[in-house]
Amino acid sequence: MAAPSFAARRPRGTNDIVGAEAFAHAHLLRLAQEIFSAYGYAPITTPIFEQTDLFVRGIGESTDVVSKEMFSVLSPDAHAKICTGTPLKKDQRLTLRPEGTASALRAAFENGMVMQGGSPVKLWYAGPMFRAERPQKGRYRQFHQIGAECLGAPSPLADAEMITMLMRYFEACGIERSSIRLLINSMGDDKCRPAYRESVRDYILDHRTDLCEECVRRADINPLRAFDCKNPHCQEVMSGAPIITDALSSDCAHHYEQVKHYLEMAGITYEEDPRLVRGLDYYTRTVFEVQVVDGLGAQNAIGGGGRYDKLAELMGAPDTCGLGFAVGVERMLIALEHQGVSVGESARLNYYVAGVDSKSNPQTQDAVYQTACTLRDQGLSVDFDLQGKSLKAQMKQAGKLNAQAVIIVGPEELERGEAVVRNMDTRDERTVTLDALRQGELR
Ligand code: HAM
Repeated sequence: MAAPSFAARRPRGTNDIVGAEAFAHAHLLRLAQEIFSAYGYAPITTPIFEQTDLFVRGIGESTDVVSKEMFSVLSPDAHAKICTGTPLKKDQRLTLRPEGTASALRAAFENGMVMQGGSPVKLWYAGPMFRAERPQKGRYRQFHQIGAECLGAPSPLADAEMITMLMRYFEACGIERSSIRLLINSMGDDKCRPAYRESVRDYILDHRTDLCEECVRRADINPLRAFDCKNPHCQEVMSGAPIITDALSSDCAHHYEQVKHYLEMAGITYEEDPRLVRGLDYYTRTVFEVQVVDGLGAQNAIGGGGRYDKLAELMGAPDTCGLGFAVGVERMLIALEHQGVSVGESARLNYYVAGVDSKSNPQTQDAVYQTACTLRDQGLSVDFDLQGKSLKAQMKQAGKLNAQAVIIVGPEELERGEAVVRNMDTRDERTVTLDALRQGELR
């Protein structure tokens, strides 16, 4: 049957998640719940919009995310003010979240979860994020992340644990280890990074004629972003720039060495990439990214994260270190598809209950309904016809729903207190009494 035509279209860069993909999303969420809880992480849900300032301060004004990609939300009051040219107060400026870290941190403090000197707070979240990027395969304006954040754990053990949990998650989802690369780096901290930034700035200015306008423009604002420029010529020039590994303070270098040591102990293989800088400003020390080798083109990062020891303070909360990661669900599903792995297919229906002439026979209809209720109460997955279909059409529907067996209820069987169970794979049939069925024989 053709679907009726409908004129409205979803907004550019957004997706409807339907059919097998919806099952796959749910499956990846279930696995996250399973793996992350084994590492002591508790779920958290935060609002989809926050005060704009949270992201401006947290992610950094000069990042692409904040300067070009945020979707603003206007309450009716704010809209009216804008129309009359009245400036908005800070708390009236709202933005759809482009990521989950700043929100998780805000929520942890606002809800009194972080105790100074207390145990680390381990949280995980999942949900839609919004970035007004130019849409293409693997890059959307609304996409879904599954992320984790750990607050109050300064030890390099926490970095190694976080990366290990991420890699175990990918493994559980069916991502082949050989199809991904784990890149790690240290970004230093506020003691060693300023001098390093200066040296990169000087390098950019010395090579200004060989670099694109954007890289040169950013030299003073955020020189490290030049490492992320997609222009191949800029990449070549930047390959000669000073690297952070040579500029780390002894504390940062020691922390980085320890992270690598603990990763090796956990059997996690990694590649060091001294030019991995990541697109958000809040990182200090360890950063990491998981990239697929093939199938996603330029959008090859399926997850990434790092340490952000100054973010809490930057947001006006008590000085508390933190670290975390986020995985891009859509990109993960593209990667899995590329590997030929199908995830989270709909589970088989246990039983379809079909009635013979149930449309014209209220007793049969009642018996079908009663049987479906009884079996569902026993924890079985069951479906039945709601439209008065013929037996033939019901059998077809049972096939479509991939039912393991069909329970056929007809007036004659009903008189004997029986039903026929047909195995849909072997086509074998057997008779069961309705009493036995009620007592859980089909469970
Ligand atoms: P991010 O690298 O910006 O980090 O995003 C994490 C992942 O989200 C990316 O690796 C990618 O898979 C996915 N992603 C990002 N943008 C898009 C997009 N436009 N379309 C589809 N997928 C996308 C963060 O968001 C940090 N909050 C991660 C973190 C948590 N760092 C510390 N804690």
